[in-house]
Amino acid sequence: MSLREKIDFLKLPQHIAIIMDGNGRWAQNKFLPRIIGHTNGVKTVKNIVELANSINIKVLTLYAFSTENWKRPKDEIFGLMTLLKSYLKSELESMIKNNIAFRVLGDTSRLPEEIQEEIANVSEKTKDNTSLILNIALNYGSRQEILKAVKNIIDKKIDNPTEQDISDNLYTKSLPDPDLLIRTSGEMRVSNFLLWQIAYSEIYVTDVLWPDFSEEEFYKAIVEYQKRIRKFGGI
Ligand code: IPE
Ligand code: IPE
Ligand code: MG
Repeated sequence: MSLREKIDFLKLPQHIAIIMDGNGRWAQNKFLPRIIGHTNGVKTVKNIVELANSINIKVLTLYAFSTENWKRPKDEIFGLMTLLKSYLKSELESMIKNNIAFRVLGDTSRLPEEIQEEIANVSEKTKDNTSLILNIALNYGSRQEILKAVKNIIDKKIDNPTEQDISDNLYTKSLPDPDLLIRTSGEMRVSNFLLWQIAYSEIYVTDVLWPDFSEEEFYKAIVEYQKRIRKFGGI
């Protein structure tokens, strides 16, 4: 029986979030520059987006660049921004064709201006699409996001705020929380990703490096998720 056949398509996670880690190690293992790892990581992004959409996942959130990733060498950051720009340009048509709504989570104001324009363009042209919501976390940090929510709540003079008020002021407002959080490359940490939203997510960590994260690996994560018993504090 193939892995795909093991999946119960009536009980899919609605929202899958992925910490796409290990591009650098993938390249280093092959004695290649780190940027080649990122280039191959983008290929995986395209495959997984297409696959998630084809099996009817409703929301896919990919961690692409954290607020802490500015600590990296300038040339690596420049390489990542260049890849991002070409990804946005090359994928717009297929997002339109495949009914995918593109959104960015994070503070885009610090990104290069031409990327901000491209993000605005792709978001606008895909905003009414209804198949998959594709969130890319860019210059995203969960603590920054929560702090921003708190400041919004103060600005709006909401007294006695509720948990819902916090959720409503996050980048993910109106989306369901992730059911499944995947991290590639074996690190057992969340690295400032969706701290509020993953309160009850099932966590799946694989040693597979992101550029090697195949269709089969994605199915494996879903099969594993479907074996879990979600209790949400109950018995
Ligand atoms: C993840 O791969 C991509 C980004 C953080 C942009 P890394 O670049 O972190 O790869 P490793 O962890 O060095 O292997
Ligand atoms: C997390 O990966 C951020 C992204 C995948 C964009 P990092 O490689 O930056 O995380 P740490 O440094 O291992 O915690
Ligand atoms: Mg890493």
